[in-house]
Amino acid sequence: MKFYIITLLLCGCVMGVDIDKNTFSNYREVQMQHLHIEWLLNLNQKIIDGSAEYTFRVTTAELKEVHLDIYQMDIKYAYYPNFGKVLDWHVESDPKQSLIQGDKLIIELGQSFRYGDIFKLRIKYQIGEQARALSFMNIEQTDDKKAPYLFSQCEANNCRSMIPLQDTPSIKFTYSASVLTQDQQINVFMSGLPVENTKFSLMEQYNLNGIANIFQFELKIKIPSYLIAIVAGTVQERKTSDRTSVISEAKNIEIYQKELEHLDKYVKYLEDYIGDYKWGFYKIVILPASFPFGGMENPLLTFANPSIIVGDKSGISVAIHEIAHSWFGNTVTCNNWSNMWINEGFCVFLERKGLLQHYESIDLVYVNSLVGNDEMNALIKEFNSNHDPVIKSYASLHPITENHNADDSFSTIPYERGYQLLLYLEKLVSEDKFQLLLQAWLQQNQYQSVDENDFYNFMIAWIQSNFSMKDFLYIKQQIDSVYIKWIYNTDAPPYKYGFINDASLLATNLAEDWASSRPGEQPQGYEIFDKFQSNQKQLFLSSLLKKNLDPVTMKQLDSTYNLTNNLDAELLFRWYTLSIQTKYATDFTNLKKIRTFVSKIGRMKMINPIYKALDKKTAETWYNENIRFYHPLARQSIENIIKNKGLDVNVELL
Ligand code: BES
Ligand code: ZN
Repeated sequence: MKFYIITLLLCGCVMGVDIDKNTFSNYREVQMQHLHIEWLLNLNQKIIDGSAEYTFRVTTAELKEVHLDIYQMDIKYAYYPNFGKVLDWHVESDPKQSLIQGDKLIIELGQSFRYGDIFKLRIKYQIGEQARALSFMNIEQTDDKKAPYLFSQCEANNCRSMIPLQDTPSIKFTYSASVLTQDQQINVFMSGLPVENTKFSLMEQYNLNGIANIFQFELKIKIPSYLIAIVAGTVQERKTSDRTSVISEAKNIEIYQKELEHLDKYVKYLEDYIGDYKWGFYKIVILPASFPFGGMENPLLTFANPSIIVGDKSGISVAIHEIAHSWFGNTVTCNNWSNMWINEGFCVFLERKGLLQHYESIDLVYVNSLVGNDEMNALIKEFNSNHDPVIKSYASLHPITENHNADDSFSTIPYERGYQLLLYLEKLVSEDKFQLLLQAWLQQNQYQSVDENDFYNFMIAWIQSNFSMKDFLYIKQQIDSVYIKWIYNTDAPPYKYGFINDASLLATNLAEDWASSRPGEQPQGYEIFDKFQSNQKQLFLSSLLKKNLDPVTMKQLDSTYNLTNNLDAELLFRWYTLSIQTKYATDFTNLKKIRTFVSKIGRMKMINPIYKALDKKTAETWYNENIRFYHPLARQSIENIIKNKGLDVNVELL
């Protein structure tokens, strides 16, 4: 009976309702099957002339209009490529939404299409610096100092600022691209395979005088829009094996290549667990430090922040995480951003299977789980203390994203809460069976977009056919008692993991000892810190963040471990946040180091906590100093942090 109630409940969430509430497109009526884009890059002026050609398939009885997502772009015209007929179009804009989610571009087809019809449409447009997916960098901002640089970041809903399209993870399509450059030094990579000598029909529109190169790409595996990616600059590629390589500017490429020399091994680790790698090549671009994330899983072209290159290969977990997306996220994709855990939670689960082979110790893997768990609990507390039900929902595995920029809900919650749910399910059915279940889940849903209900239904059916009736009924009852709670509750997950073990205790006990040591004195056995792995050091610092340390102890910690001058950004950002919180960083030299850090790294995970810890005035000053360096997405999130400080002050004043 309960099963039917839950099934009804689950189906009720989906049937007859738009699955993705963050798109203005009519993607239920007509669907992109293939997209061809053509871009003429003018990196000096930070302008791109673009055309997009869509192959659409109609999935409604009668279609008269196509609605696409756009964000701050200049639409020139729309037409049927086959017979050149120009089409009427207009933009429907809600001023409240325009800068949050963009606008709806309505193209009037001038005729009716019927169910199953396939037709092509072309749009010409121009984009510039307002495109929030794009980071246009001046020559001085690059490592090589030879030419300007461009890179994109489309997840979650930013692709609509560089291409008018159905910007929803529900729609998957193949794509091809031609990119025309004006500077011989510029090299271009996209999230597809480079192809040569392919004639694309849109080329004749440009005056090809002054064009230095044409780069062409193709991706024959269907992907959602947020996986389209481009990087252009004086970037080069270095192989690390037959199928893996590293791409970056020349300056540090040898260092990057060395640090990532074992990429292929990590791909193999994951293949061992989940099945063949289907994308062919795996390439990783080490971008400029303003890249706002640690990594981004663009197919065939992972993007990564240089902060993952530490020198001791400790940043490899980010690479393993992005490789894991080749299965979870890029092959089976969430169908809306409220279901982001379908990408990230599964991906962390697989990442930690890979890490198990890497560390050869479940204890060390659980140290990562513990660091993640600490971060998750802090966020659960923070989001729950907010009275806005939308913000509160960010603490759950199903954040409310309607009428909001889906990026606002981004946090470590879908990663860790999702991971812990999968760990719980794994324990219920056994490790071996859960591995088979995940392989079957991939097999059945590959190249499709799915959500929490699909996973539930699949899992129940799989367990029913792979267990005895008695075991099935027991497992199902266990799942039903937690699944909905695990996804919708905003407080702690129904099952609490300890993850505590010998490796983690070394780190947390040392933190305890420091916290209870007399000011100015080192606790016994303090030297063990130097033997820690990077993740144990992270756990040590994240434990200290929960204590009330005094500035004298902080100074002692610093002189003992030389933390202020550490090279590992994973440690630095925690140490600096702690330094501000404990008021250790009032000292001019300390504060200067932190000020330099936020001017050299634009990775949100690392600078946001620092901006959160700073007082409003300092935060504003530092932010203003670095606006030009920060990525548009980082700007948005730091501005929000500073705005909220304003609110805090108001609350205090009242
Ligand atoms: N897909 C994410 C990055 C992302 C998420 C971009 C949401 C935009 C919106 C990527 O795979 C990721 O999770 N990166 C992490 C890596 C970490 C979990 C190992 C990051 O950037 O820190
Ligand atoms: Zn991820």
